[in-house]
Amino acid sequence: MGVTTADSGEKVIELLESATFDLVITDLVMGPIDGIGVLNSAKEISPETMVMILTGFGGMASAIEALRSGADDYILKSCEPEEMYFRVSKCLEKLELKRKIKLQQAQKIETIATLAGGIAHEFNNALSSITGHTDLFRMEYPDDEKIVEYARTMKQSALRMAHLTKQLLTYARGEKYFLLSMSLSSFVEGSLPIIQHILNPDIRLETDLPSDVMNAEFNSIQMQMVLSAIAANSNEAIEGPGRITISTKNTDLDQGFIEDHPGIKPGPYVCLSIEDNGKGMDEETRRRIFDPFFTTHFMGRGLGMAAVYGIVRNHNGSMSVDSEPGKGTAVRIYLPATEPKEVP
Ligand SMILES: Nc1ncnc2c1ncn2[C@@H]1O[C@H](COP(=O)(O)OP(=O)(O)OP(=O)(O)O)[C@@H](O)[C@H]1O
Ligand SMILES: [Mg+2]
Repeated sequence: MGVTTADSGEKVIELLESATFDLVITDLVMGPIDGIGVLNSAKEISPETMVMILTGFGGMASAIEALRSGADDYILKSCEPEEMYFRVSKCLEKLELKRKIKLQQAQKIETIATLAGGIAHEFNNALSSITGHTDLFRMEYPDDEKIVEYARTMKQSALRMAHLTKQLLTYARGEKYFLLSMSLSSFVEGSLPIIQHILNPDIRLETDLPSDVMNAEFNSIQMQMVLSAIAANSNEAIEGPGRITISTKNTDLDQGFIEDHPGIKPGPYVCLSIEDNGKGMDEETRRRIFDPFFTTHFMGRGLGMAAVYGIVRNHNGSMSVDSEPGKGTAVRIYLPATEPKEVP
């Protein structure tokens, strides 16, 4: 563990963009980017990094303001070294615990994926047999209207189940698809009409799709499913007018990130973010969002995000979800960058 110092808010942001830090301790009053500016940037660049705000004597009001804005702790200036040591240790312990919980969640998801994959395979075999035999029924008794009708209804139900099983298999990473190396910016650009179609007319769709984003290898049909499932969720989370922002950017995932997101390698990645200003979700929902059949909707099936997770993992990628009740949701997908930047 090391300590790096910075003499301005700009410098802190620059450092945060180039490496992962466990903790940022920042003064509140600085110019032109103050402590709250550093806090907001830190939480955006690396949501997990802890931030402590240093405030002057009597700066209790600003300390409370900083905590409200998402700071993890504050220290009143000219504190004793022992207190500083204690507060920093507590902050780092909290971070360690958060990482452990994340790791356990990732392991749980892997276990569920294996189980879901096994069950889905069994189901698929049984369903093929059912649909095949209903066809035989109809061929054998083509003149018996009742039998033809019963067999048709049975086949419809079996096909509906087969569709669900296909989604489960997608989650369980059972299938491989044709991959093409292309720019995620161009891909999203081309998908906008489909996404727009999913959204209520009151929702504004904004984009930030730089042309210098690196290529990634993906299957466009699968990635379209990913975008549509996430956009559908954002649409459901927004009551009345709202905003959804889809953006892409190049990013380097370092060892710190990999430790929290097992199964991927450090290196250059392309990040695709879908952010909404909808109602957000509580911690329990956020933790369970990728579980198959987990839903908070009356008519939901709880398979949208499970399938999204499966597709992203199948592309050797990773995901994160940041959300709080009332504060909207940001879903981030990281896919390995495959080529140097495309010349615009
Ligand atoms: N953008 C979001 N904002 C708020 N909550 C969300 C968001 N995305 C997902 N959720 C929560 O996560 C749950 C699981 O999402 P998921 O897409 O897997 O299932 P679903 O939308 O309920 O059903 P479906 O299978 O039809 O998509 C949702 O029920 C909702 O509670
Ligand atoms: Mg959904």
